[in-house]
Amino acid sequence: MSELDVHRHPDDITEALRTDVRAGLSATQKWLPSKWFYDARGSELFEEITALPEYYPTRAEREVLGREAAEIARVTGAHTLVELGSGSSEKTRLLLDGLRGHGSLETFVPLDVSESALADAVEAISADYPGLSVRGAIGDFTEHLDLLPGEQPRLVAFLGGTIGNLTPVERGKFLRSVRDVLAEGEWLLLGTDLVKNPETLVRAYDDAAGVTAEFNRNVLRVVNQRLGADFDPDGFEHESYWDAEAEWIEMRLRASADMLVRIPGAGMEVRFTEGEHIRTEISAKFRAGGIRGELADAGFDVERWWTDSGKLFGVSLARSIRA
Ligand code: SAH
Ligand code: TRP
Repeated sequence: MSELDVHRHPDDITEALRTDVRAGLSATQKWLPSKWFYDARGSELFEEITALPEYYPTRAEREVLGREAAEIARVTGAHTLVELGSGSSEKTRLLLDGLRGHGSLETFVPLDVSESALADAVEAISADYPGLSVRGAIGDFTEHLDLLPGEQPRLVAFLGGTIGNLTPVERGKFLRSVRDVLAEGEWLLLGTDLVKNPETLVRAYDDAAGVTAEFNRNVLRVVNQRLGADFDPDGFEHESYWDAEAEWIEMRLRASADMLVRIPGAGMEVRFTEGEHIRTEISAKFRAGGIRGELADAGFDVERWWTDSGKLFGVSLARSIRA
């Protein structure tokens, strides 16, 4: 059984993009929120990224999930698995296998802004897990957490290090909002990429084949399509920058010449000077103690902490302890 709930309609999406583009591209330091990478093409490019030799997080997190899925099932006894920013849900199959093996799982609720990625995932998972109720939800995990369906206890998985794409302030709000929709004793499984040497980090976001560069430029194509803008994506250079103080990677698009971009759908014209950049994403990197503290502040107690054998990526299993 499967279905797709839409918390977000095409007109709302264009309206939300208009608001973000107006705010981000009129700022002194221009920026765009990273969720706008993910139209159908963006989601495909992200899947390509996960297979790149330089992009270790997917493989490292998969190693942990494969090793610990049975333990996660045993500890949580989850009846419902909710996945935020689920994308293709490929790695999530390891969790589904563990939870099914344990015998408790009834419902899987993947939530993503990317309708195409979600529809494909719902179809594939429903076909491969007969008897599992799959209830996909199209929505924004920073806004649409109010309705998490499914029998308790629920396990909310937030994988891929996507939490690092939120600013520290957004992160705090987001973790509290997850805590607020859970009952005491329900669970969060959080994947976080870890601080490591800058070269490894920078290369993970700037691969030799140029896939990440295309992915980064895709945000300009999304603005062109939805708001009728005339960005020339090839006029922007991809850059992966390690901010050592903030401990995050910044993805940037740097204008290779002076230009004027028209964005009729947002009622604006934006001027770029040569060398000026748009910040398109941050991807924060974490340390075990910091994660534990942020989770505690939001009302979660970390009961298990795992890393892959290379200590590149961390996975926390946290229990909600108080409102
Ligand atoms: N969980 C997958 C995909 C990670 S990429 C993995 O670990 O490989 C980030 C995913 O989050 C994409 O599928 C993207 O569409 C989704 N996403 C990004 N911002 C979002 C938001 N604000 N609300 C819901 N989904 C979002
Ligand atoms: N959540 C992923 C991460 O922070 C998203 C991502 C991977 C990404 N590669 C990217 C986003 C390149 C923008 C550009 O690792």
